Amino acid sequence: MEILSSIKEIKQTLDKERQKNKTIGFVPTMGALHQGHLSLVDQCVRENEVCVVSIFVNPTQFNDPRDLDTYPRTLEADYALLEREGCHYVFVPSVEEIYPEPDTRVFEFGRLAEVMEGKYRPGHFNGVAQVVSKLFDIVEPTNAYFGEKDYQQVAIIRKMVSQLQLPVIIHACPILRESDGLAMSSRNVRLSALQRQKAPLIARTLKESTNFVSAKSVSEVIDYVVQTINKEPDMRVEYFEIADAYTLEPISKWSDAEAVVGCITVYCGEVRLIDNIRYL
Ligand code: PAF
Repeated sequence: MEILSSIKEIKQTLDKERQKNKTIGFVPTMGALHQGHLSLVDQCVRENEVCVVSIFVNPTQFNDPRDLDTYPRTLEADYALLEREGCHYVFVPSVEEIYPEPDTRVFEFGRLAEVMEGKYRPGHFNGVAQVVSKLFDIVEPTNAYFGEKDYQQVAIIRKMVSQLQLPVIIHACPILRESDGLAMSSRNVRLSALQRQKAPLIARTLKESTNFVSAKSVSEVIDYVVQTINKEPDMRVEYFEIADAYTLEPISKWSDAEAVVGCITVYCGEVRLIDNIRYL
């Protein structure tokens, strides 16, 4: 496994691989890798001749400077995990390498970027689109892999790829969960022992709520989920939306969409956790 930090180096290296007609798979990450990321890398290694993983904590997608400062950074451990998973190249650029000057591009994703995360983290998806478009430009992957835990992010990236007409196939990979149901996330390490015990309530409540689809209205299911989680001291639902799985527009009746997803964000103490579940 080779670790590269300059754009010039990684471009030259991947150009050589492309000249040999090799397919390039890409997993963009912000590091602090866990089993969820590794499942993406595993799929990438199986489906491509060359697997590239980037590790870059992208400042432009953090609207809360404290969140950026406290984002876990575990480079050495990440390298060891990637090597074991069969990754070929790790791209670890500095902030100056990616942003030699401020990125002033503004993407227009319409309502898709205004609902849910878009409402609570203004500018977040613009930052994600800035960095992912730059990374796609550098790596020029055939296939790119993203986790479905960040459900809205995947929708935004698909939209960006279609707007920019990029020749990359986006693969959305299922959420990986701890044995108690908690969705795997780099932020989980920031939970205290007690918070870690409580956090699986999110996934448990979402799962339970899928049993009510035929008996309860959309707003009753929303109330059930929000109240059940908010009853737990130290846990606070920021939002829970039941939405069309494609447009992410909130629905008011189950028949409003053919495919329906529930997306939630919960503060467990100071730690912001997200999860989602398919209803229909
Ligand atoms: O999902 C993430 O880890 C990040 O948002 C991504 C896609 C690597 C862009 O910085």
